[in-house]
Amino acid sequence: MRTQVVIIGSGPSGLLLGQLLTDAGIDNLIIDRVDRDYILGRIRAGVLEAGMVGLLDRVGAGKRMHEQGLVHDGFDLSFSGRRHRIHLKALTGTSVMVYGQTELTRDLMDHRVETGGRTIYNAQNVTPHDFDGSNPYVTYERDGVTHRVDCDYIAGCDGYHGASRAAVADKGLQTYEKVYPFGWLGILSDVPPVHHELIYANHARGFALCSQRSPTRSRYYVQVPLSDKVEQWSDDAFWDELRRRLPDDVAQAMVTGPSIEKSIAPLRSFVAEPLRFGRLFLVGDAGHIVPPTGAKGLNLAASDVFYLFEGLRECYADKSDAGIDAYSARALARIWKAERFSWSMTMLMHRFPDEGEFGQKIQEAELAYLSSSEAAQRSMAENYIGLPY
Ligand code: FAD
Ligand code: DHB
Repeated sequence: MRTQVVIIGSGPSGLLLGQLLTDAGIDNLIIDRVDRDYILGRIRAGVLEAGMVGLLDRVGAGKRMHEQGLVHDGFDLSFSGRRHRIHLKALTGTSVMVYGQTELTRDLMDHRVETGGRTIYNAQNVTPHDFDGSNPYVTYERDGVTHRVDCDYIAGCDGYHGASRAAVADKGLQTYEKVYPFGWLGILSDVPPVHHELIYANHARGFALCSQRSPTRSRYYVQVPLSDKVEQWSDDAFWDELRRRLPDDVAQAMVTGPSIEKSIAPLRSFVAEPLRFGRLFLVGDAGHIVPPTGAKGLNLAASDVFYLFEGLRECYADKSDAGIDAYSARALARIWKAERFSWSMTMLMHRFPDEGEFGQKIQEAELAYLSSSEAAQRSMAENYIGLPY
C-alpha cells in the first residue's frame, strides 16, 4: 500500500492533521493500536482555546461543538476561603470553549468517515522505518499478517507511550522532564455543575478543580498522593474531600451523584527535542506532556498540527521544504511557553509535601498579588486563552 502521509495515532492530533491534509488533497492513512470505542472511552481534556476552535471549524467538524459546547468568559481561583474571578474576556477580548476531548474526537472521527478518510484500528507493532532516507515506510500487524505502507512522510501522533518517539530514542533525542509528587483523581458525574464557570481551588488539603461537560454533566478533580489507588476512593469519599477543599457557599451548593468514570492521572512536564527526524515528525503528546492545571495538553497538540500541516502543504503545493525545516523550532517555541505556564499554575495551586510552610506562604503571596493586580491577571488570562499561532 502507498499513501503520501502515514499518521500513527487516531487521537485528536492525528485526526485533526488527517482532516487538514485530506481537505488539501494530500492522501493520508491513520493507523492506531486500539479501536474507535476504546479511544472514545478515554475521558481527558475539557477546555479548548480559540485556536483549536478555529481549526475544528476550518475542517468542518465544529458544528456540534458550537451547538453543545459552553463558551466561558472567565474562571475562578479559590483560595483562603474566597474566590477571585479571572475575567478572560475583559482582559484579553477572548473566551474559551468548554467541550470534552471525547466529543471532539468523536466529531473528527465521524467527519473523517464522511469525507472518505481511511483509518486502520487494532494495528499491532506499528513501526516507522527508513525515515532518515527519502523512502520511509510503516509496518503493522493485523490478524497475524504484517502489512507495509510506503509514504513520503510519517506523523507520529501516537501519544506519550507511542512507537514514534521510541523509534528516535537513539537518534540524538534530548528529553526534559519534571515529575510531580501527586496525581489528579477525577470523576465524571451526571449532576449539574456547581458553578457556571470553572473553579481552580488552592486549599491546605490540596488542589481541587470544578469543571463540567454540559449543564447536566460535571467533571471534578482533587489532588491525591501518587500512592493512592482509584479503588480506595468511594464516590462518597470523593465528594466529601472535594467539598472540604472549596469555599463554604460552593460546597453547600454542590449536587452529588454516582460517578460514571473515575480515574487517577499522574502529573508530569516533559519535552522531547527536536520534533523532526528526517521524514518523521513528533506531534502532540508524542513530543511533550504538560500537567493539566493550565488546560494546555490538547491545545498544544493543535498548534503542533497547524505548524506541521502548513509545512507539509508547502512541500506538496510549493515544492518547498522551508515549513517542515522550521517545524520543530516553531512548535517548540510555543510548547516551552505553555510548559512554563502549566508548571507555574501547577506550582501555584497544589500542595507540595516538600515545600513546607515557606512554599505555602509564597503561594498565598502570589494569589494575593494576583487578586490585586490587573497586570498579573492579564498575564494569567493571556496564557490561559492560548498564545497566538
Ligand atoms: P493521544 O490522545 O494520546 O492519542 C494518541 C493515539 O495514538 C491514541 O489513540 C493511541 O491509541 C494511539 N497510539 C498509542 N501508541 C500507539 C502505537 N504504538 N501504535 C499506534 N497507535 C498508537 N489535557 C488537558 O488539557 N486536560 C486534562 O484534563 C487532561 N487529562 C488527561 C488525562 C490523561 C490520563 C492523559 C493521558 C492526558 C490528559 N490530558 C489532559 C492531555 C490531553 O488529553 C492530551 O494532550 C491529548 O490527548 C493529546 O492528543 P494526542 O492526539 O497528541 O495524543
Ligand atoms: C479540565 C481539565 C483541566 O486540566 C483543566 O485545566 C480544566 C478542565 C476538564 O477535564 O474539564
